[in-house]
Amino acid sequence: MIIDTHMHIYDSSYDDIREEVIQNALDNDVKIMIAIGCDYSTSLKALELANKYPFIYCAIGLHPYEVLKEKDKDLKWIYELAKNKKVVAIGEIGLDYYWDKSYINEQKEMFVKQIDIARKLNLPIIVHSRDAISDTYNIIESNSDVKGVIHCFPGSLEMANRFIKLGYYLGIGGVLTFKNSKDIKNVVKNIDLKYLLSETDSPYLTPHPYRGKLNKPEYIKYVCYEIATIKEKGLDYVTDILSNNAIELFKLGGRE
Ligand code: NI
Repeated sequence: MIIDTHMHIYDSSYDDIREEVIQNALDNDVKIMIAIGCDYSTSLKALELANKYPFIYCAIGLHPYEVLKEKDKDLKWIYELAKNKKVVAIGEIGLDYYWDKSYINEQKEMFVKQIDIARKLNLPIIVHSRDAISDTYNIIESNSDVKGVIHCFPGSLEMANRFIKLGYYLGIGGVLTFKNSKDIKNVVKNIDLKYLLSETDSPYLTPHPYRGKLNKPEYIKYVCYEIATIKEKGLDYVTDILSNNAIELFKLGGRE
């Protein structure tokens, strides 16, 4: 079994093919998927998918891109949606300084606020971090009672070690299969499998050999092959460990 711990297949690019994409994922051994929201409306769509399919779970949260657009600064909708048992995390949340550095303080404020919500709801967080790894680390370190995953881990081996010391998992996706992605290959080589999660981030970050095309959960196998190759282990050995990691972090057996 493989678990896609991070996908957005509620996206309109799947409107005509969603059923087929879900069936193909199941046929390719992707038995559990987690749909990730980025604001109220996408969190609702993620939850709708989770309510429709027993093997889909969801995360709800406000992505750093959406911070300025958010009207409800208390994020009451997160508490509302999180009552549903299929919600397994708060995400994706975090910091992104790549596109726009003009509202860093607002990003940090919403990130911390959502970590507080996760703490109250006893849920893990799914963290997006781009060109902001030190600030991300500092915020997480000061809130280290809350656990989670750094999705599409963007840092060095040294940073990877610091995050796993805080009890964090590292999300590994399609970037690992790109030729010039030395940092993440080095991270996978040197970090124990017990700290890694498999993910696609569909529709983004499509792995080789489909790079440039629409990503789909079934393509997660290319990520897992690459991890197995780097680790010099069998595919099933790798996917068993990674699936157990996801089950443990997101309590996929069910929330108390
Ligand atoms: Ni994402």
